[in-house]
Amino acid sequence: MGDHSHGSPENSGTVAKADDVAQDRFPDPGLPPHRPRLADRDPRAAKRHERQVALLFTISIIGTLFFFVAYFVLGHLGEMTFAELRVQNAALGLGTAFAMLGIGVGIVHWAKTLMPDHELMEMRHEIRSEEDRQDAVEIIDTVLEESGIKRRPLIRNTLIGAIALAPIPAIFMFRDLDRTGNTAHQMIDSLRHTMWDKGIRLTRDPSGTPIKASDVQIGSAFHVIPEGLNETEHPLNEKAKAVVLLMRMDPAEMQISEGRETWNVDGIVAYSKICTHVGCPIALYEQHTHHLLCPCHQSTFDLTQECKVIFGPAGHALPQLPITVDSEGYLVAQSDFHEPVGPSYWERG
Ligand code: FES
Repeated sequence: MGDHSHGSPENSGTVAKADDVAQDRFPDPGLPPHRPRLADRDPRAAKRHERQVALLFTISIIGTLFFFVAYFVLGHLGEMTFAELRVQNAALGLGTAFAMLGIGVGIVHWAKTLMPDHELMEMRHEIRSEEDRQDAVEIIDTVLEESGIKRRPLIRNTLIGAIALAPIPAIFMFRDLDRTGNTAHQMIDSLRHTMWDKGIRLTRDPSGTPIKASDVQIGSAFHVIPEGLNETEHPLNEKAKAVVLLMRMDPAEMQISEGRETWNVDGIVAYSKICTHVGCPIALYEQHTHHLLCPCHQSTFDLTQECKVIFGPAGHALPQLPITVDSEGYLVAQSDFHEPVGPSYWERG
């Protein structure tokens, strides 16, 4: 395989020659001289670094085990409160972080302290012949030999353990995306609908108290959930789809498209709070510009133009919830949203 002898440890400090003109204009600075590290000179230092690398891989294993404890022990205490859910999420995140960091930092430490650190260089070229392939196999064998993975069973065994365990949490998390046993089609269909329906009152999040039209002043914004959400079987799932922002503006400033003339109550409008990019909750309403801002990737929606995207990566306007008032003056939905809320990963047609 080509001329990789240029980069062998004995030839460290040389590079393959470029053409003469370029050589004249850009003199080859060569490679810096090789400086032996402590572990190269002192076997006891090498042994110490080996134990440190193994410790980092062991931390990864402990992180994965911690994930399992948080997942199975905390996850099976029955119906969890928000506070307990937060604790469990923090524990799952910590376990996963240590599992990944342990492997990453361990490999970097291993490479920096124990693996050979002479620099290799070869010209880039295509692999065409059987001979080239043989050369490539030889290089891989050399890398395995020089990495010391065969000579250092402590590192090898802890690395195998860490790498074997680390992906398992991802399997559990993907499985949890749906525990209902629904088909993919049913799952997508469930995303098309929220619990909003004709006559359901708009209530404050999280107290659940209903909102009268007279409570909503120009410039104010309410975080809203459907009445009865907290009594549903899976309130968090329902909230993730149905949460809404309620605002009031001067009707003269609103551009209303055909068919939506009756969806607001004297300038009070309700829009899905779920960003149409990748689903972050929209958090900021600028009352002077009437812009809604998503904190994740700065998508900006213009309330005066039915929450059309005016900046950022979101692909669709925020869906509007048609609202009206009931006989007692409380704000209620006229129906569900007329289009799916949230990210547009899948076709809306
Ligand atoms: S999720 Fe809102 S901009 Fe990306």
